[in-house]
Amino acid sequence: MRLSGKIALITGGSAGIGKAIAARFGAEGACIAITGRDKETLEQAVAEIKEQGGDAIAICGDVQRAADVANMVRTVQDQWGTIDVLVNNAGICRTSPFLDISEEDWEQHMAINLKGTFLVGQAVAREMVKRGQGGSIINMSSVNGLAAEADQAHYNATKGGINLLTMSMALELAPLGIRVNALCPGMIETRLTKPLIDNPVALGPYLHTIPMGRVGQPDEIADAALFLASGDSRYMTGHCLVVDGGQFIKLS
Ligand SMILES: NC(=O)c1ccc[n+]([C@@H]2O[C@H](COP(=O)([O-])OP(=O)(O)OC[C@H]3O[C@@H](n4cnc5c(N)ncnc54)[C@H](O)[C@@H]3O)[C@@H](O)[C@H]2O)c1
Repeated sequence: MRLSGKIALITGGSAGIGKAIAARFGAEGACIAITGRDKETLEQAVAEIKEQGGDAIAICGDVQRAADVANMVRTVQDQWGTIDVLVNNAGICRTSPFLDISEEDWEQHMAINLKGTFLVGQAVAREMVKRGQGGSIINMSSVNGLAAEADQAHYNATKGGINLLTMSMALELAPLGIRVNALCPGMIETRLTKPLIDNPVALGPYLHTIPMGRVGQPDEIADAALFLASGDSRYMTGHCLVVDGGQFIKLS
């Protein structure tokens, strides 16, 4: 097992990509703390990990609130005494033409996606530094952080910010033994992308933008997260790993 004895905190771990990562890390021997805002779905996800023989706890909290973030980190420390791996996964995405994005929508994307990644990343990194045994931090970005998609200027901006935040964290934390990388998924089948996936008229042309001709599955991102969390990526930091069926390399 590649994460045997490791303690992992996964934000937004009760659904979609975060849930798949939690299950994969649990199956690889890690103790898992998952956070989210809905107690019931969190407890359901924890029960599923335990059914597979893993050890997991649920922590309710909002990543945009510093007090909630402090509670997340404290709860994991109280439970297991340390954090080895953080997956900064919680995020939202709403579509809107640039000319119509409201100030409120802009601020929500910044607060949850970008500030949330900063708050959790800083709080966990401080604990990793205190303990002095290094760690691995994975920030969930997107191909939208590398190139622009129409009607998602606010989302694109947060993911571009996460990529540079990842490099900045990696730069300062490398001497302290903490690796920080980003994952940049393309279109993955979750409730975030359900409206497009459930619309055959829109999905058909969209699939032509993906050389592999299909959307990805959450467990395909979980496999990449496992690589970044484990010693298999021990000489990598500050990297933005694209997992997108080739979508990003296609000009037309
Ligand atoms: N699905 C895709 O195609 C895709 C592609 C690229 C990147 N991503 C990124 O992957 C991550 C997960 O997305 P997903 O597709 O699994 O979506 P999802 O909606 O299924 O899951 C998002 C998770 O984040 C949690 N969350 C949202 N706001 C939160 C907050 N304020 N505090 C705490 N938790 C919060 C939700 O409760 C949920 O568990 C996001 O960061 C998203 O931007 C998704």
